[in-house]
Amino acid sequence: MKAITFVTQKGGSGKSTLCISLAVAAQEAGHTVCILEMDRQATITDWLDHRTADGPEVAQIDATQIDLVMERLAESAYDYVFIDTPGVDSNGTLSAIRAADLCIIPCRPTPADLRAFKPTLAAVYRLEKKFAFVLNQTPPRSYRIRDAADGLAVLGILPDVNIVARNDHQDAIGVGQGVTEFNPKGQAAGEVRRLWSWIERRMQATGQRPAKAAAGAMGKDARKHVKAA
Ligand SMILES: Nc1ncnc2c1ncn2[C@@H]1O[C@H](COP(=O)(O)OP(=O)(O)OP(=O)(O)O)[C@@H](O)[C@H]1O
Ligand SMILES: [Mg+2]
Repeated sequence: MKAITFVTQKGGSGKSTLCISLAVAAQEAGHTVCILEMDRQATITDWLDHRTADGPEVAQIDATQIDLVMERLAESAYDYVFIDTPGVDSNGTLSAIRAADLCIIPCRPTPADLRAFKPTLAAVYRLEKKFAFVLNQTPPRSYRIRDAADGLAVLGILPDVNIVARNDHQDAIGVGQGVTEFNPKGQAAGEVRRLWSWIERRMQATGQRPAKAAAGAMGKDARKHVKAA
């Protein structure tokens, strides 16, 4: 069982949206998936209320439960546990990072988002966790994507796919689906499938450097960012 934590204290960056659609994509790729929702906003529980298809399992937990729940899940048949965290720094967020085999940090290509993930990144470094940024809600084409991608690539690993802002994401969640179910041939679905297979490859790859080693290899700019965090 591998755990993937969706984390950044910037609200609205797409943690829950990506968590849901990637969980569905992982399930479609043949894996068993369970989602732990740690956010009282309950975006995922609400999604589940509208869902008619089977799986993934969803459980709402709080910070005090995560260690025990993860211990139990380690013995379970799930291939993946996806953990959705709230958009605030909390003990729960730290526990969720600690439980992760990989942290996904969604980020919109805006100056506010690019500044806001620093405390999250500092925690990920402190706990020496593997992580990747995902550029989300990007315009289809813009210099902003290139600038943001260049900045993020200095700080850590960035997939070879960005998630463009598309209505399919909003509409899919509204009817209890992942974007690959809602419009399987759409561009949003294609991007999410590519992102999932990138994540899967990263999870399976051996010899990846966790955050500490990556931090050691960071350039001056990156060090400055983390120090500022
Ligand atoms: N790629 C996308 N294209 C279009 N809309 C998106 C995309 N990703 C997220 N959204 C929309 O942005 C809003 C915020 O997304 P979401 O709730 O997933 O963010 P979050 O990081 O979980 O927020 P919070 O920190 O409040 O939990 C939602 O309305 C969602 O539908
Ligand atoms: Mg959320």
